[in-house]
Amino acid sequence: MEKVNLMISKEDINKRLEEIASLINEEFKDEEVILVCILKGSIYIMCDISQHLTMPVTIDFMSVSSYGDKTESSGRVRIIKDLDEDIEGKNVIIVEDIIDSGRTLSYLTDLLKARRPKKLKICTLLDKPDRRVSGCILKVDYVGFVIEDKFVVGYGMDYAQKYRNLPYIGALEL
Ligand code: IMP
Ligand code: MG
Repeated sequence: MEKVNLMISKEDINKRLEEIASLINEEFKDEEVILVCILKGSIYIMCDISQHLTMPVTIDFMSVSSYGDKTESSGRVRIIKDLDEDIEGKNVIIVEDIIDSGRTLSYLTDLLKARRPKKLKICTLLDKPDRRVSGCILKVDYVGFVIEDKFVVGYGMDYAQKYRNLPYIGALEL
């Protein structure tokens, strides 16, 4: 049985997400924004951030394949569920739980940019920049916390589909 060590508390997560929401409020003012939640890991983050936004907000969901039951990225990205709505001419913010190799978001930003949104921004709760693979260098607009290279769970993030419901972020000890 694996062990989970507390890394970031619920209080610190909530405070940081509120700060990020303020930055988004400043940047977009009263313009409409579509939040794109990348399932399943980003659901908790999207719920929290969205409630602090003051402009008209709609939400949409995408699901892409990632890790399976391992802690290493397969390197392949596949769409399992696409957006319901057209994003052409709209302000779009991709809400992600964590950026690791950068493959998922490189793929997604290319895909969504091709649909010609007005603005396309990336928001992630966590970033592990040391893990980035070449060719996946991204401009990330809103980052919650930069963390070292550890596998983390909680606040939406899983290990073999477990631990998503933890109200904090913990480092997994296998
Ligand atoms: P990337 O394509 O390698 O950047 O991986 C991105 C996706 O892998 C994230 O959206 C997560 O769903 C998952 N992931 C990456 N690192 C972790 C981790 O430490 N814990 C849980 N999931 C992770
Ligand atoms: Mg994710």
